[in-house]
Amino acid sequence: MDSRKKLRLGVLGSGAGSNMQSIQDAIEDGTLDAEIVCVISDVSGAKILDRAAAAGVDAAYIDAAPYKTKLDGEAERKYIEYLEEHGVEVVVLAGFMRIIKEGLLSRFPNRVVNIHPALLPSFPGRDAWKQALDYGAKITGCTVHFVDTGTDTGPIILQKSVPIRDDDTPEVLHARIQLQEHDAYPEALRLLAAGRLKMEGRRVKSGI
Ligand code: GRF
Repeated sequence: MDSRKKLRLGVLGSGAGSNMQSIQDAIEDGTLDAEIVCVISDVSGAKILDRAAAAGVDAAYIDAAPYKTKLDGEAERKYIEYLEEHGVEVVVLAGFMRIIKEGLLSRFPNRVVNIHPALLPSFPGRDAWKQALDYGAKITGCTVHFVDTGTDTGPIILQKSVPIRDDDTPEVLHARIQLQEHDAYPEALRLLAAGRLKMEGRRVKSGI
């Protein structure tokens, strides 16, 4: 039996959960020494909850009303309670469509991570792949970063680039970015789980 302690991940998502799946697949393949101990969605019936159930992971829909774009107040308290009950060490945002506030961040200092579908600091916010396409950028990509109180402003852990082609549509480009996301998120969590990430100001060094 493997006696090493596995990093305990709690995943928050609002949608399809393909990033959660890529993390779970890496764990099952033995390439990521971690465990998804719970999944929470703010969207009832979200596919991410079905994927969690299929993987045998505890999953819950927790309403985040009355807010529409942030996690705050009583809802935030319920999320923190669920994460703490499961002994979560790192909170993984995987398509969670709300801004995380100080309450949750202070319970998990430098322990909340997010994936963003662009090369930050370019194109923060929603529909980042469409922003890059409409801007006329030739290269975009994805960024895994620690979460701070800003929107997509936290220290960058790693990035992967994706070319933008003349015939791209928003959907085609987003799909190509997602392929990179599915490598990037497990890779970043592997570095975190191995204790390889060192913070120097806002620079995150991984020894690579
Ligand atoms: C991803 O493109 C991620 O970058 C963005 O939301 C999307 C979530 O996709 N934050 P999924 O739910 O992981 O499939």
